[in-house]
Amino acid sequence: RSILAKELPDAQVIVVSNREPYIHNLKDDGIELVVPASGLVSALEPITRACAGTWIAYGGGSADRLVVDDKDRLAVPPDKPAYTLRRVWLTEEEQQGYYLGFANEGLWPLCHIAFTRPIFRLSDWETYQAVNRKFADTVVAEARNERPIVLVQDYHFALLPRMIRERLPDAIIITFWHIPWPNSEVFSICPWREQILEGLLGSSIVGFHTQFHCNNFIESVDRFLESRIEREDAAISYGGQTSLVHPYPISIEWPPSRLENAPTIGECRKRIREKFGLSGDIKLCVGVERLDYTKGILDRFQAFEELLEGHPEWIGKVTFLQIAAPSRGTLPAYQQLHEECMSKAEALNLRYGREGYVPVVMVAEHHSQDQVYEIYRAADVCMVTSLHDGMNLVAKEFVAARDDEQGVLLLSMFAGASKELLEALIVNPYDAAMMADALLQALTMAPSEQGQRMKSMRGVVRDNNVYRWAGSMLLDAARLRKRNDIDRAVG
Ligand code: G6P
Repeated sequence: RSILAKELPDAQVIVVSNREPYIHNLKDDGIELVVPASGLVSALEPITRACAGTWIAYGGGSADRLVVDDKDRLAVPPDKPAYTLRRVWLTEEEQQGYYLGFANEGLWPLCHIAFTRPIFRLSDWETYQAVNRKFADTVVAEARNERPIVLVQDYHFALLPRMIRERLPDAIIITFWHIPWPNSEVFSICPWREQILEGLLGSSIVGFHTQFHCNNFIESVDRFLESRIEREDAAISYGGQTSLVHPYPISIEWPPSRLENAPTIGECRKRIREKFGLSGDIKLCVGVERLDYTKGILDRFQAFEELLEGHPEWIGKVTFLQIAAPSRGTLPAYQQLHEECMSKAEALNLRYGREGYVPVVMVAEHHSQDQVYEIYRAADVCMVTSLHDGMNLVAKEFVAARDDEQGVLLLSMFAGASKELLEALIVNPYDAAMMADALLQALTMAPSEQGQRMKSMRGVVRDNNVYRWAGSMLLDAARLRKRNDIDRAVG
């Protein structure tokens, strides 16, 4: 907020994402409020609160239309309003073509190395274009003047930056791509690659989590568009617009507000073990994420199996608790993963389970953030073994939840977070034997070593928190605006 006040006074902040921060669903006994499982939402929510901005998102909850204050707008958070949530309503066809189709069957697998073939349909692409236009109309309608700061989030809106630029030429448009950007060879698979790049280059700044993904993006532009690239400044000029391409590693709020009312570690350990019917002294290894094929859930089960197979002394002493929040569940790839995870968990339980001992507890249900924090605080080990991930905020949240400085994090070398959380046990999720060894190391790690590692990781998350993430983008945007204003004044 202080950067905004000093560097960009009077600027209105507009956030655009597909996923809304508060979903209202109709239940038998009334309306249920849900905060979705989305790293994007966890990161952007504290920022939008701090800026008192406007957040434009798809209103996807079954009761969302019932919960509006004024003209599709709602003051949120519901218990302590701090900013405006402006819902955009999409038809089922729009959801199908834009969100499930082009974004999640096309761009999502295209950008992640998870060996799931991207599907590109012309009809999905047309709907994606139309929905991006619909959001552009909403941004223009919500803008109070010609110079708002628009924070465009993720792969649902590759075309939006240019559409906004055409209608609000003086806006600061910061686009953040929360998922990896593939190399230019892989990117060339997309039949509309030029349009995607042109769309993104309507931004003042295009941000990724890592330098590697910035480089991949710049290479893709170099290969497919006639543009001017100044590599030293990471600036691309295309169609009369200069865009900076910079890495901004996303993070979480610090201090974590969830900790304010969290039960003690001892209480969490007890409650969670009771809740899932586990014995009080069992070691608990946890995985928490969306049920998604990029997250490496099956590979993790495989590693757990190898641990029990190779070290039978652990049978009866350690349980794996997997929380997997369903989303995109109508897509075949997600349905198949769901079935595979359930049957693998069942097979492990049949093989290693015994009276009073369940090796794997797989819960494919949404959990509130408070519940998730309790699980982090109850765990001995947290496994974040994504096959590919832009950043992965679960890793940072686990670290934030552990104010006792205990617990071990196993972290995939293919998650952006592994570039920052160096004291985690870094693993290759494709190497089950290596993961099983790391799991054993984690389960037998002395409390003093756990403390040293956790303390150091907590320092990293505290220093590189989400306010710093947003602050550095806003500072870069302010410098850019000043430079443009001077250039214009000079002629
Ligand atoms: C990833 C994406 C987000 C998305 C989240 C949840 O983190 O980068 O944009 O919101 O997954 O996925 P969903 O499709 O349920 O919104």
